[in-house]
Amino acid sequence: MCSVITRMRPLHRAVALSLRLGANAESSSYAATQSRRLSPGSGSGSVADVLRLNARFYCSRTARTEGLLFRQLFEVESCTYTYLLADTNTKEAIIIDPVLETIDRDLNLVDELGLKLTVAVNTHCHADHITSSGLMKKRIAGLKSAISKFSGATADILLSEGDRIPFGKHYLTVRETPGHTDGCTTFVSADESMAFTGDSLLIRGCGRTDFQQGCAKCLYDSIHDKIFTLPDHCLIYPAHDYIGQTVSTVGEERKFNPRLTKSKDEFVEIMNNLNLPKPDKIDISVPANLVCGLHGL
Ligand SMILES: [Fe+2]
Repeated sequence: MCSVITRMRPLHRAVALSLRLGANAESSSYAATQSRRLSPGSGSGSVADVLRLNARFYCSRTARTEGLLFRQLFEVESCTYTYLLADTNTKEAIIIDPVLETIDRDLNLVDELGLKLTVAVNTHCHADHITSSGLMKKRIAGLKSAISKFSGATADILLSEGDRIPFGKHYLTVRETPGHTDGCTTFVSADESMAFTGDSLLIRGCGRTDFQQGCAKCLYDSIHDKIFTLPDHCLIYPAHDYIGQTVSTVGEERKFNPRLTKSKDEFVEIMNNLNLPKPDKIDISVPANLVCGLHGL
């Protein structure tokens, strides 16, 4: 195991951040308040004050945890989200689920922001796209790749339950969430305000369980035991979305997810009868992703 990972016992209790989705800039009352403050003669708040409060230069998440830089990036062909997180002071950064087709965009952003990328981590061995983690390693000296030890893939760092992936003063904790694949993991921020759920939990959905060691019962248990035990306000950032949704919360998914609100037996019945076509790239992607995307390159 690489030295950048610290093996820890899983967190069992929420370290609460008082983060309320209803208080963000999408709220109409909040927007009206900001609008009044921006109006000439309406009070003492300056434009800079409002921008500081709003913190929406790139993403509403940016200023919620002190010293955390966060970017959600999108790859259009496989509808994959890639996440870039960094410590704004030390500039140490990690990237989650980078895609081969967007490697230049991602590394350009890393470069522009002056970040030092230390780990490229995959939530699981993807079937629908090829990871860029292997190629990134060739382009960034010292970069480590990481994936679950149960994925069957090779990488510099093989992750287990409770491991920490640090970047500066921040870290993500590994929670094993098998079911979509054996090696699926969810990464949870130190304050339990963000969870990167890969294909285990999607917004109002979940990953399919009909290939790559898929197991509907396991997925149901993983989500209920490892994700739905997080605080309601914890933001859910999945690996994909196909209709333009970008973020959810644990509370929302616990209440509204059409599959996970069912009993386990009903869930298994649903998952066993999805009759989905095979992903276009599965025969290329899976072998490639077992070697950090470098198969045949
Ligand atoms: Fe997947």
